[in-house]
Amino acid sequence: MGEDKEPMEEVEVLLATSNPGKVKEINAILAPYGIRVKLPEEKVEVEEKGTTFLENAYLKAKAYWERFRLPTVADDSGLVVEALGGYPGIYSSRFYSIDFGGIEEGYTPDEANIRKVLRLLEGKENRRAKFVACALFYDGGEGLFAFGECKGEITLKPEGEGGFGYDPVFRPDGYEVTMAQLSAEEKNRISHRGKAFRRLARLIRRVYREPSPSP
Ligand code: IMP
Repeated sequence: MGEDKEPMEEVEVLLATSNPGKVKEINAILAPYGIRVKLPEEKVEVEEKGTTFLENAYLKAKAYWERFRLPTVADDSGLVVEALGGYPGIYSSRFYSIDFGGIEEGYTPDEANIRKVLRLLEGKENRRAKFVACALFYDGGEGLFAFGECKGEITLKPEGEGGFGYDPVFRPDGYEVTMAQLSAEEKNRISHRGKAFRRLARLIRRVYREPSPSP
């Protein structure tokens, strides 16, 4: 970033999601790179049957590319907890519905996911965890991808109202507060998704950069 003297031509790509909140968050991350993501005209159902973050990001991007034939970015992310052998991992959004550790009724998915992680960590000393994100670009060719991580610890109880998912129980290294207590800007600066998308943006810029005509 910053080394380009020429004004950058804006690149617009599709974001393989139906979540407008994600578009806003990712556009804030990508704006300095002159890349804008836009919401597709309609949702494409994608079965996330991959076994890794990379595979799932690829399945999403490819499905949207096949439907709209537009350069597409996708991401897949989750929480990896050391003492749980890497779970919830790729099952992060629906960890509550997975059989082991029990299923509780009457909570939102985010609340139920958090309760399950806290319950499974009860009595365990090691509360180390990391958020992992894979950001991927696909336009029918080989594709480009990048990973980002944010390391920290699972707290004893939820705290904070910001963010989403496991943010209220994740304290990033170097902070005394949870991810849910950080501003959106601060979270983007340190988050797995922020890092993955900034890395991907640099790769996309290399691919799309046209040599400037000599004067
Ligand atoms: P997705 O792949 O970005 O849709 O994320 C899958 C799941 O991982 C979410 O439903 C959350 O439970 C969890 N997750 C991913 N990123 C974050 C984050 O930044 N904060 C909290 N939870 C997250």
